[in-house]
Amino acid sequence: MKKITSVLLASAMLGAALAGCGGNNKAEDTANTDSGAATNTANSGKTADMPKVGVAIYKFDDTFMTGVRNSIDSAAKDIATVDIVDSQNSQPTQNDKVDLFITKKYNGMLINPVDRTAAGVIIEKAKTANIPVVFLNREPLPEDMKKWDKVYYVGAKAEESGTMSGQLIVDYWKAHPEADKNGDGVLQYVMLKGEPGHQDAELRTTYSIQAIEDAGIKVEKLAEDTAMWDRVKGQEKMAAFLGSHGDKIEAVLGNNDDMALGAIEALKAAGYFTGDKYMPVVGVDATAPAVQALQDGTMLGTVLNDANNQGKAAITVATLLAKGETPTKDNVGFDITDNQYVWISYKKITKDNVADAQ
Ligand code: GAL
Ligand code: CA
Repeated sequence: MKKITSVLLASAMLGAALAGCGGNNKAEDTANTDSGAATNTANSGKTADMPKVGVAIYKFDDTFMTGVRNSIDSAAKDIATVDIVDSQNSQPTQNDKVDLFITKKYNGMLINPVDRTAAGVIIEKAKTANIPVVFLNREPLPEDMKKWDKVYYVGAKAEESGTMSGQLIVDYWKAHPEADKNGDGVLQYVMLKGEPGHQDAELRTTYSIQAIEDAGIKVEKLAEDTAMWDRVKGQEKMAAFLGSHGDKIEAVLGNNDDMALGAIEALKAAGYFTGDKYMPVVGVDATAPAVQALQDGTMLGTVLNDANNQGKAAITVATLLAKGETPTKDNVGFDITDNQYVWISYKKITKDNVADAQ
């Protein structure tokens, strides 16, 4: 990328006046700068006061993130022009998208990292170009968050969802003595983990079991494996668990609904959910198919991972930063913690309160 001083200067001078000059966000109009100069204030959106925000999702083919993406899109409607791109589960691809956002001189960026440890590099690029950046769903490491004050994170506390999913199992176990199928006073369980290293996978796995133990229930892990948030993989892993442990399994915990739904398919194929053959299965997210499974009586419970409010809060914070404003509780509508974090609450969902998830 060449530095063309005259273009830079022109672009800087035009910055304030360049309202309403639509559709000109091509790289050639906007010779890039790595100087941190305020040239990215040139607004090329259709509406004078609508900043441009580049949004990179880790992959479009993810059920929960599709909900977040739709929420970003609709919440952006009157506040920002968004360019939402698919990083296709590849960090190098995402880095290219970020470079493109910078070249296009967008006013803000909203990034759902593929690899959360890559956030540091993205923050450095953003800081150099003076383009504020909001991360969502995959939490950057604290040391990376400290690199710049125009970096925010919008997400949900993974521990909370873990605790809640464990509590769903506790409630069932306490209300159903027959749940202890072999009568040994110990809960034999299998765990379907999300992507290793992802805060939601690690912490949901730990905290769900912690909640069960905290309720005074002894546990025995029969098997644990990652199914990478994926329904088909969830089904395959559950079929394998059934192959080696069969009816010894007394509960299935999934780090998300897609994997739990996959497990339910495998359980159905093994004769569960007909007659007396039942298995308590819990997930996280409260996606539409999970809510359906709750109503069908196959899924015991899930935890609402609030895609709507996460998307809304994320694009609101990104838009404010893009306009040079400071996000506050008043202008965002959600608490800001430690000047950089917005935490959206989870909620336990069962058949009895499905309406809360819809
Ligand atoms: C989690 C969610 C998963 C998956 C993952 C992607 O919060 O529960 O279903 O979408 O994010 O990072
Ligand atoms: Ca038992």
